[in-house]
Amino acid sequence: MPIIKILAVSGSLRSASLNSALLRAVACLAPADIRIELFTELGHLPLFNPDIEISDSSPVTDFYARLLEADGVIIASPEYAHGVTGVMKNALDWMVATEAFVNKPVALFNASPRATIAQASLKETLTVMSAQVIEAASITLPIIGSNLDELGIARHPSISTSIREALYAFHTEIVNLQSPKTHTLYGIKNCDTVKKARNWLDQNNIAYRFHDFRTDGLTPELLQHFADHLDWNKLLNRSSTSWRQLSSDQQNNLTQDKALQLMLTTPTLIKRPVLDTGEKLILGFNAKDGGYAASLSETNAQKT
Ligand SMILES: Cc1cc2nc3c(=O)[nH]c(=O)nc-3n(C[C@H](O)[C@H](O)[C@H](O)COP(=O)(O)O)c2cc1C
Repeated sequence: MPIIKILAVSGSLRSASLNSALLRAVACLAPADIRIELFTELGHLPLFNPDIEISDSSPVTDFYARLLEADGVIIASPEYAHGVTGVMKNALDWMVATEAFVNKPVALFNASPRATIAQASLKETLTVMSAQVIEAASITLPIIGSNLDELGIARHPSISTSIREALYAFHTEIVNLQSPKTHTLYGIKNCDTVKKARNWLDQNNIAYRFHDFRTDGLTPELLQHFADHLDWNKLLNRSSTSWRQLSSDQQNNLTQDKALQLMLTTPTLIKRPVLDTGEKLILGFNAKDGGYAASLSETNAQKT
């Protein structure tokens, strides 16, 4: 996987800050393909004043440049009086009129499960600044009250696992967002066959966007697109649990329209995964048959 560069920003200036300790632990736990840089100059940014140009303040220029260089940003900021800390908001205000956060993948980490109001507010501000807040990579950890320091956080079994998983999700999402999207894989995240198909695509360096029916939805148009290119009888997964849960009335005398209606209401009735290469749809995945190798090479052969 390509190396990505992450700027980690703590919204606390306290020397014993739990959020800063969390970010230092994150830097220790980061795998070789994630380079974490800590931004420790938040307290040196002047108070935001729209009359002052960014270029007039070197700490602000530096912050801006480091954000632009980063493939993604991790922010860990405490809650003060049900709000984002002043220093954190001040830093973001400096960037509002810039491109710094436009389409920038951001993961929100937090050392306190109580800081929900500030976390929501931070997400709102970043979204309005056009950042891409990555939910799958955002975590709140029970560090407050745990007496854990940075080393303790890095060594804690469940906390370190959550951090590693969030970093993995962040890396995957950043690579996904940066890749030209020619392929889309449709399915459900937890399905074993879908996981195998994703592993195969990753191992073969094939860029794709993953569309989860549960979180990204299923529209009648998308289902019709499937039905236009695939046999609806094969698209309908008659060995699924969802199929077995249907009444015999629903199962019998099916037409394409009735089957599509059933699949629209219950997307788990769709055989998984469906890979859309932009040129054709490939239904199902079997690692034993060489995965997508044969079907994708057919597509390439047709192109040449
Ligand atoms: C001025 C102030 C206001 C605070 N307000 C809240 C609050 O509204 N909600 C909350 O959950 N914690 C609040 N706290 C507790 C902090 O979130 C907590 O101490 C946290 O550990 C601070 O983060 P840090 O350790 O990274 O500095 C407040 C702390 C301070 C100093």
